[in-house]
Amino acid sequence: MIIKNGKLVTEKGILEKNLYIKDGKILKIDSHFDENLEDVVIDAKNNFILPGGVDVHTHFNLLSGESRAADDFFSGSLAAIHGGTTTIVDHIGFGPENCSLMHQINVYHEYAKNNCLTDYSFHGVVQHVNQKILDEFSELMRNGIPSFKVYMTYDDKLSDSELYQVLRKVNELGGIVAVHAENDDLINYFRETFINQGCTEPKYHALSRPNICESEAISRILKIAKLANDAPIYIVHLSTEEGLNEVIKARKEGQKNIFVETCPQYLFLDDSVYDDDLNGLKYIMAPPIRKKSDNKALWNGIKNKDIDVVATDHCPFYFDEKLLGKNNFTKCPNGGPGVEDRMLLMLDSVSKGIIDIETMVQITSTNPSKIYGLYPKKGTIQVGSDADLIILNNKNHIISKESSHSNVDYNLYEGKKVNFSIDKVIKDGEVLVENNKLINNNYRGSFIERKL
Ligand code: URP
Ligand code: ZN
Repeated sequence: MIIKNGKLVTEKGILEKNLYIKDGKILKIDSHFDENLEDVVIDAKNNFILPGGVDVHTHFNLLSGESRAADDFFSGSLAAIHGGTTTIVDHIGFGPENCSLMHQINVYHEYAKNNCLTDYSFHGVVQHVNQKILDEFSELMRNGIPSFKVYMTYDDKLSDSELYQVLRKVNELGGIVAVHAENDDLINYFRETFINQGCTEPKYHALSRPNICESEAISRILKIAKLANDAPIYIVHLSTEEGLNEVIKARKEGQKNIFVETCPQYLFLDDSVYDDDLNGLKYIMAPPIRKKSDNKALWNGIKNKDIDVVATDHCPFYFDEKLLGKNNFTKCPNGGPGVEDRMLLMLDSVSKGIIDIETMVQITSTNPSKIYGLYPKKGTIQVGSDADLIILNNKNHIISKESSHSNVDYNLYEGKKVNFSIDKVIKDGEVLVENNKLINNNYRGSFIERKL
């Protein structure tokens, strides 16, 4: 395949060159146009060509209490690929009590095998700590999984000393720990207090998780990581100005190996989503949607490169399931959709001049690939990389449930107009999606062994 007349967004800047693809990989980037009879030639018509999106925070098939996420690996990846995301790394759910780490990895291999339209990997999940679990980390790494998720909240949270042990061991092995940082004890106290006072509406979900609950936990985990010999630590879904300030402060004090992710919902939405008691249920997620001042701080964080990654935390539940929280916000399953919308939302911020297109590519594709051991196979347009690409055009796109491919029955950005659309999604050198339609039903992605 040859893609001509495109503007390639590469790490060396925007190149107006032809892209040659062979056997699913980028063969050559050249000004010279040299067509053979059997070549498929795509005219990009002076539009941008980006590396496929890499979403390192999805929850396909997640079981939360009694509720199962609406998207499994098929529908979740269908949504992802339509939105220009060609690789996902899933944050897998907790397994049975005391199960081994490999148990859940094997369960998820079964979920994803022959069922995923993007390439995929998993983060290991650490739900308890003992010597057997610590010894298992190296086995996951040998199996292509060098990242491990820990929680500071929820039932399977780890204590500070357990977090320390995980960080120290993963650091020794050369892996990375991803952390959901919220102060569990305070949150549980606020939740209980609100419910006892009859404050049951969605807005109390946000009020029960004040900003300081995130920033305190971030400050604590950063200190624990520092104690564990500057262990690499990746903060997932950072949502607050105060939390980001803790990161900036620690970096200024010389702590290295800190990586920060935020998500579109913390950039584009504010806590007015909770004003409507019914619709507000759709936005119950942890952390909650924050204030406009937090949006602003996070956008500054992206511009200043304090934030490394924008991922999604895609974890949608059907509205019927969300209604479980109608009379009590604590009964609502946490999470929302986003995997299909991330790339277009971030591109909209490019069209509005908020960030440049190179930054957009870094935070949605290059940085997550580098941090999690997918680079340079993924996350870049360079010779030898996988030919996972998106070709844009300048037509508007209206985000809506109607035009989306997730199973879930609503969209968090319903009606938002975006000043770009995705013309084609190319995976392994084949056009999979054109004009928002899947044109190759047979393609399936592969498990990608990652290495740090
Ligand atoms: O509310 C959320 N984010 N649900 C998914 C699980 C998690 O906490 O990341
Ligand atoms: Zn998550």
